[in-house]
Amino acid sequence: RRGSQLLGLGHFQPERIMTNEELSLLVDTNDEWITSRTGIRTRHIASETDTVTSMAIEAGRMALADAGVAATDVDLVIVTSVTSHDRSPSSAGRVAVGLGMAGPGIFDLSAACPGFEYALGVADMAIRAGSATTALVIGSEKLSEFTDYTDRSTCILTADGAGAFVLGATDRPTVGPTVWGSVPHLLDGVRIDGAPGEPRYFAQEGRSVFRWAITEAAGHAERAVTAAGLTLADIEILVSHQANLRIIEPLAEALHLTDKIVITDIVESGNTSAASVPLGLSKAWHRGDIPADAPALLFGFGGGFAYAGLVVHT
Ligand code: ACO
Repeated sequence: RRGSQLLGLGHFQPERIMTNEELSLLVDTNDEWITSRTGIRTRHIASETDTVTSMAIEAGRMALADAGVAATDVDLVIVTSVTSHDRSPSSAGRVAVGLGMAGPGIFDLSAACPGFEYALGVADMAIRAGSATTALVIGSEKLSEFTDYTDRSTCILTADGAGAFVLGATDRPTVGPTVWGSVPHLLDGVRIDGAPGEPRYFAQEGRSVFRWAITEAAGHAERAVTAAGLTLADIEILVSHQANLRIIEPLAEALHLTDKIVITDIVESGNTSAASVPLGLSKAWHRGDIPADAPALLFGFGGGFAYAGLVVHT
């Protein structure tokens, strides 16, 4: 039974760290409001030279080294981002050339915040179908470029960074299947807005999204566990999209996972959209906080309004 397994993880964060105190000099906010409503204490912000592609290359390089896989052995690259300037060539193409690959399949995938879980699902299916044997999947975002630093309701949330997984073919699959869906009434609930020619900024109906996440997300996340042939008791790690600590904690409670490893990288990294899940898991993995061969439940939601989840064994 051909399928895929996780071979390696990598991540990249820009050097510059922006604190809540710094934001309180830009807009009418304060550390107490930000930490109590979102959990965020710091976020990394890209420099001029950090791009979606350059951050993706660094995360990809680290994931390949972690996997012990040569760049020339990769035959599929998928980059997912909602902030990329690349149209053609794709960011995936630039990553493939940047890492010295030997002509893999390349494409970008756009599904906003759950983009990484969608991309993992597609890479897993490609491996299952025999279209690929080794896939590099990267979420990379430069949200700071699409953030209005005069809008206190959004500029406190967004951040930059990248995360990457290497998947390889196996006869004993431990990835997926991916469960995905969307929420019609929240279509415009999270978006990047702006008239043609005007700057485009991240915007959202925070309350409606929050309500959905608190009431509906757990049921969809549990479907991913069932699809993997597991029960919630089998799950050892929860990696939710890092949108708000006040969403992650109730989600862990609803899934009865509070005594397991719950990734809360939002506290130091803010919301990095499609990068948040692989970034949070990779940082914990490279710190040595994650056991090998443990079932992790990955769940993303946001822009579109789309969601996706799957179980991946570390
Ligand atoms: N500092 C101080 N006060 C603020 C700030 C701020 N930074 N931002 C808003 N306020 C004020 C508002 O003006 C409002 O004041 P008012 O009551 O006088 O009108 C009050 O605080 C409450 O504002 P809300 O927007 O209702 O605040 P809420 O408690 O809903 O928190 C938040 C906002 C954190 C965005 C929350 O709604 C949330 O997390 N929603 C879900 C977000 C999400 O998961 N998105 C999906 C992913 S999107 C992505 O990942 C890119």
